[in-house]
Amino acid sequence: MTERTPAEGLSNLLTEQRRFAPSAEFAAAANYHADAYAAAAADRLGFWARQARRLDWETEWSEVLDWSQAPFAKWFVGGTLNAAVNCVDRHVLAGRGEKVAIHFEGEPGDSRSVTYAELAQLVAQAAHALTSLGVAPGDRVAIYLPMSIEAVVSMLACARVGAIHSVIFGGFSAQAIYDRVIDADASLVITADGGYRRGKVFALKPIVDEALAKSATNVAHVLVVKRGGNEIAWQDSRDLWWSDVMDQQPTVHQAQAFDAETPLFILYTSGTTGKPKGILHTTGGYLTQAAYTHNAAFDLKPETDVYWCTADIGWVTGHSYIVYGPLANGATQVIYEGTPDTPHQGRFWEIVEKYRVSLLYTAPTTIRTFMKWGEDIPARYDLSSLRVLGSVGEPINPEAWMWYRRVIGGERCPIVDTWWQTETGAMMISPLPGVSATKPGSATRALPGVSADVVDENGQSVPNGAGGLLVLTEPWPAMLRGLWRDEERFRETYWSRFAQQGFYFAGDGAKKDDDGDLWLLGRVDDVMNVSGHRISTTEVESALVSHPSVAEAAVVGANDPTTGQAIVAFVIVRGGVHANSAGDGSADSESGAALVAELRNHVAIQIGAIAKPRQIMIVTELPKTRSGKIMRRLLRDVAEDRAVGDVTTLADSSVMDLIAQGLATAKPED
Ligand code: WT7
Repeated sequence: MTERTPAEGLSNLLTEQRRFAPSAEFAAAANYHADAYAAAAADRLGFWARQARRLDWETEWSEVLDWSQAPFAKWFVGGTLNAAVNCVDRHVLAGRGEKVAIHFEGEPGDSRSVTYAELAQLVAQAAHALTSLGVAPGDRVAIYLPMSIEAVVSMLACARVGAIHSVIFGGFSAQAIYDRVIDADASLVITADGGYRRGKVFALKPIVDEALAKSATNVAHVLVVKRGGNEIAWQDSRDLWWSDVMDQQPTVHQAQAFDAETPLFILYTSGTTGKPKGILHTTGGYLTQAAYTHNAAFDLKPETDVYWCTADIGWVTGHSYIVYGPLANGATQVIYEGTPDTPHQGRFWEIVEKYRVSLLYTAPTTIRTFMKWGEDIPARYDLSSLRVLGSVGEPINPEAWMWYRRVIGGERCPIVDTWWQTETGAMMISPLPGVSATKPGSATRALPGVSADVVDENGQSVPNGAGGLLVLTEPWPAMLRGLWRDEERFRETYWSRFAQQGFYFAGDGAKKDDDGDLWLLGRVDDVMNVSGHRISTTEVESALVSHPSVAEAAVVGANDPTTGQAIVAFVIVRGGVHANSAGDGSADSESGAALVAELRNHVAIQIGAIAKPRQIMIVTELPKTRSGKIMRRLLRDVAEDRAVGDVTTLADSSVMDLIAQGLATAKPED
């Protein structure tokens, strides 16, 4: 825990007076009305049971919630269902087989639309394929794929046969893949030769090869989707082409129903230590809440809406709001392989126009990038199909919110700023677009059925107008069921802080305004949020000190106008390693600049390109308390160009002068 005040510099948010109520027309046709809150509050478990009934169950549950083993929840006890059947087959059986499930848009401009009937066949074949490769219920399958139909099919095929998928974001390094494959003890990896990004093919299979060469794993096979067409090495006894295996399989598959608490997936996310946490989600409760929130927050009309979530399948947003939520709801959606600026900066809006997208879900960092590119770019496209605009991943600043509403939403689309986490599995705090009067920058309040509060250090609810820590006060269906094989860390991370009250500690600071609406203020722990991606300071520090030239490293998340936070590292080099001639912390000498470049690369190799520090400062000292704790607060002051705060607890108060002097002469890295 750092000594950070979450509300730092954000108190002006609470002076925000603008309110945007939905139009009478939107409100009248909305899926949810204001009475949903009271109905859910009066009978919370009854409310969730009604949401669960939106799914197809083979066996009905006997009890909605068993919380007797808290913090280990069981939802829909005794109920059985199959997640893939709920996402695919049941829509076909209901006569909607010809409806498009997914419009895939490749970065080079190729596209492919798959109906629910076609998706059912693909998932059936993939399920047979998994079984033919020896994958049994409970086995772990690692998925390292670009955004593709095959990624969705792979996940659903795992769910169908009761295997647990562990999707690894395509930007992660060989080391990160290795760590995840080992921790989950995966027996199969599904990857692709490569994918398209920024107009080029990036290799995936070679990175998997490198990961699996690190030491023995239990991976028996690597299934390879052909996408990039790039040259790849091949191990005959281990590697198989996806299409070869798929083509041999029947297109019909008899699915088995699994207990509601059957593990569905593990997804690794950064915590406050160097080791990522394997967040474990199960089937019935997760699918219930993913489907409910997708329907409620987007006011989904499955017959007419076209939905597009711009996240990658490697993050939880892709799990819950590309795969499980929208498909359980029978939605038609767009998935896009590439980046927003390839081949031009209007690409997103071209896609909205092409598919008549009506519900858009993206991240504040993306919106800020579009703001930078200028509003004349979206103005060239017909965005009149848009109906609801979603935001997720980090606090959205009021300027970006207003721009999103005006330039993209034509002042007519409600904005839903949705707060949740990998751990919560699905949205927790969000406006209801047909009900809420939204405010630029506020996620408003907990969704019906969800119980959140802002409390002080002692767990006491703070009054309106005050700030504190965000907690979830009641269990919810999509809550994580633990950390993969690490019960102690699960209890410690989320449940120890407010053990007495039994609250879940989210790690975020928040404020309540005079109406009781919630304003999320960012993490209060050592987790950074870079472009909506969670990265721990310790993880980057560990990566840096694993380089032979580095003696010590301290990392902070500094405010950044585009990415929200940016990674800034302060590094002490080992004795004998030449940092720079001036010795003043600058990286302007030739060898200093070369070392900085090498260290940035080293972090990319250790974790992935998303963790590359924006800036690395070579310093001679780090600010520490007398007990040896690094005072990141002071480093953040330096990194954000502020006057350095109170240094009285430093063991050596002159350290900050040294660092600040060095920084003044250092140039930011590109
Ligand atoms: C952390 C969770 C939720 C899926 C993507 C990120 C921050 C997320 C918001 C929001 C303010 C937000 C929080 C949270 N966050 N959404 N709407 N407003 N902050 O999932 O990687 O698990 O990160 O993202 O700090 O704790 P994640």
